[in-house]
Amino acid sequence: MGDLRIAVVEDDEALSRTGADLVADAIARHPTAAVVPATGNTPMGLYAELAGRRRAGTLDVGRVTAVQLDEYLGLDAGDRRSLFGWMHRSFLDPLGIEGEHVVRLPTDGDLEEACVSFDRELLARGGIDLAILGLGSNGHLGFNEPPAEANVPTRAVDLSPMTVEANGRYWGDVADVPTRAVTLGLGPLLSARAIVLVVSGLGKRAIVHRLLEGPVGPSVPASFLQTAEGDVTVVVDRSAWGNR
Ligand code: GLP
Repeated sequence: MGDLRIAVVEDDEALSRTGADLVADAIARHPTAAVVPATGNTPMGLYAELAGRRRAGTLDVGRVTAVQLDEYLGLDAGDRRSLFGWMHRSFLDPLGIEGEHVVRLPTDGDLEEACVSFDRELLARGGIDLAILGLGSNGHLGFNEPPAEANVPTRAVDLSPMTVEANGRYWGDVADVPTRAVTLGLGPLLSARAIVLVVSGLGKRAIVHRLLEGPVGPSVPASFLQTAEGDVTVVVDRSAWGNR
C-alpha cells in the first residue's frame, strides 16, 4: 500500500498550484509517464497552470502519454459533449500532447472485448504512472459508479441518476447528458503509481470526508483510495474540507 496524504488549500488558485506541483514533480521524476487527466471542472485550473509552466519552459511533457479516463457512449464523432474533446481542449492541446502519446478508450464495436484488450495493452505498456482525478458527488472515480469493487476492469456502465444530474452542469441541461459511458476500471486506476485527487466546493464536503474516514467498500468507490497501491494525495480546498 502507498502513502495517503491530504493537502488542505485555501482556494481554487492554491488547489491548481499545489496540484500542478505534484504533477510536475511526478513528470520530472518520470518523463515518459503515462498520465490520466480527468475531465470535470475541478482540475481545469491545474491544467492551465501546467500549460503556463510549459510555456515558461519549466515543464517538459514531450515524452508524456495521456490515457483517457472516461467517455460517454452513443455520441456522434465531433459531438460537443465528447469527453475526449474536452480532454483535448483542456489538456492535450495546451500541453502539446498528440499522436502516439494519446491513448483513447474504445467507444464502439464489441465493447466488452475492446475493453479487455484495452486493459491488456495498458498493462503491457506499464500501466498508469499518474492519475489526476476528480471526485463524483456519489463517490465515483471516472465513471466507476457505486457499487464498484476495487478490481473492476475497464468497461461500459450505466450512469446513475445522481451522476446524470451532476453532469447536467457541463452541457446546460440534464436531458443532454448521455446515460451510458465507458470508464477506465478501478482495477487499473488503483494500480497507478501515484494518484492526485482534486476536490473542491461545499457540495463535496460530505463525500470527501466519507471517502477518507469511512469504511472502505464498493458503496463509495473512491474509498478504495485508502488502500491503493501507489501514493495518493488528496488536494482539497477549504470549502470542501471545512474548518477542522
Ligand atoms: C464526472 C466525471 C469524473 C469527474 C467527476 C467530478 O462525472 N466522470 O471524471 O472527475 O465527475 O467532476 P467535477 O470536477 O466537475 O466535480
